[in-house]
Amino acid sequence: MCGIVGYIGKRRARDYIIQGLKILEYRGYDSAGLAVFDGCGKINCIKRAGYVSQLESATIGTEGNCGIGHTRWATHGAPSDVNSHPHTCGKFTLVHNGIIENFVSIKSQLANKGKRFLTQTDSEAIAVFLDDVYDGDVIKALSAALKKLKGSFALAILCKDFPDKIFVVKKQSPLVVGIGDAECFVASDCMAFSQYTDKAVYLKDNEIGEVSSQGIKLFDGNGNRKAVKIEKTATEYFAPADCKSFMYKEIYEIPKAVQYTAEEFFANDEKKLGVVDIFSKNDKVVMIGCGTAYNACLVGKNIFETVLRVPVEVELASEFRYKNPIIDDKTVVVAVSQSGETADTIAGVRLAKSKGADVVVITNVAHSSITRYADMVLHTKAGAEVAVAATKSYLTQILLFLCVATVLSDDLKSVAAIKKEIESLPQLTQKTLALDEQVHKLAKEFCKKQSVFFIGRGLDYALALEGTLKLKEVSYIHSEGFASGELKHGTLALIDKNALVIAVVTQRHVAEKTCNALHEVQARGGKVVIITPFEKAKNDVECDAFLQLPSSSGLIAPMSAIIPLQLFAYYMSIERGINPDKPRNLAKSVTVE
Ligand code: G6P
Repeated sequence: MCGIVGYIGKRRARDYIIQGLKILEYRGYDSAGLAVFDGCGKINCIKRAGYVSQLESATIGTEGNCGIGHTRWATHGAPSDVNSHPHTCGKFTLVHNGIIENFVSIKSQLANKGKRFLTQTDSEAIAVFLDDVYDGDVIKALSAALKKLKGSFALAILCKDFPDKIFVVKKQSPLVVGIGDAECFVASDCMAFSQYTDKAVYLKDNEIGEVSSQGIKLFDGNGNRKAVKIEKTATEYFAPADCKSFMYKEIYEIPKAVQYTAEEFFANDEKKLGVVDIFSKNDKVVMIGCGTAYNACLVGKNIFETVLRVPVEVELASEFRYKNPIIDDKTVVVAVSQSGETADTIAGVRLAKSKGADVVVITNVAHSSITRYADMVLHTKAGAEVAVAATKSYLTQILLFLCVATVLSDDLKSVAAIKKEIESLPQLTQKTLALDEQVHKLAKEFCKKQSVFFIGRGLDYALALEGTLKLKEVSYIHSEGFASGELKHGTLALIDKNALVIAVVTQRHVAEKTCNALHEVQARGGKVVIITPFEKAKNDVECDAFLQLPSSSGLIAPMSAIIPLQLFAYYMSIERGINPDKPRNLAKSVTVE
């Protein structure tokens, strides 16, 4: 939710800022802006509604070696030139990621003092507040801001009195400072500067930083100096989408993502022992996540219940955090988050900790905020995922549930079988990608549909929910996922000759049941597509399209079946003229409530 960057050093700041903002555009892309000291003490501030590419052309020729930038996902105030960041008041120009919950009262207090506001944003209130309290000591002003502001914020700030410094503050939104050779980089995500340095300082909540070309000085919320810890960043180099789009590229990275995730998990004996320890000392398992991560938890529940015969509760993190959940010190909460920055999931984890539960985090980002609250972190090795729609990360999350199940199960025979299947996953997913052209044809045929239903039973129902989320996210087509047995309890009323129903059939014991539901659809004139590894299903239903998956066992098959669903969403988006990487109204990393 909003990306911030900053640069100070020997390069032209504008070039790094534009490059960094392009990398962070997954965090928000309704407007962008930058502010750079011109070398004579003046700040040039340029901001625009629209993509970073529009800002790029508007800032050609902007000179200066110290500056900040922002790519926005609007929370307060419509996307417009004036509401774009940076915001300026007096000597202060700043960019903000997060939400200031008490901005209305701050604004009215400042307005009563005669201060003027130019925008509808919460962020402007910070600049005006700083200008109001500033007496020449920026750290003191920032300490006052930390005490005054409620909510979440990562800030990068320029102050006219210090043209060779960037000030940074962090509370609940991510902020990292990359340490280079006589240069420093500021970013919401180290991916923005990973090609320049792998040394970084990850700010903690309520910390203030004074960044110069020589490094960073850290202060606590009261303005006292703190020791600086430089860490090695974990993100691999950000690879641009040289082909169709990030979403497409990332679907094609699935075979490698699953290979690396499994290798990492099984190579680490300490981690495996830790898993056994944490799960065996608890007697309740709850899984939480948002969006695709939640859908992965639904699959995880099915895997745990099938393999381990252990009951599992799954909750949307946004619900869990406000419901006084029945958990205690005998509960293990498994929190799943690709980014590790989702505000609702982090809040759920904090709540779980406050109730004495153990927390296992499954995340794709090693230094992400959520890891700080975890008793154990299981790392998906999907590599940087940039497209808003999660694809490869979903498979690696499910894979980790399978891996965990293998170390917890005492049924050696089934463990051996699952491990063999896991080994075959890179190949299986690679083979499944061969359905690409067939899926593209389908999308061409059905891209004008106004509504698409996905159905399945058991594990396939969980997949149907993910298939439907993908389609909605990137094609804007109304879509719903149903347990196939439920169609007749209401949804069948929606089925007529305009309906398209896509059935996922990977669970042998319920395959016929889903096929029966398809007959009911066809009897009402609906179009029917089947995705299955079972050839026999072709004879059971005369469908409009049949996508044959490579054969695999029940627990692994969903990992292959999701690939055509992701490709379908991707091609539907393309056929409808939408950019699948930047769907309207969405952002990849939702760091606000
Ligand atoms: C956003 C993204 C979704 C993602 C969800 C959870 O809504 O658009 O694609 O599934 O956040 O993200 P997380 O990083 O916690 O997995």
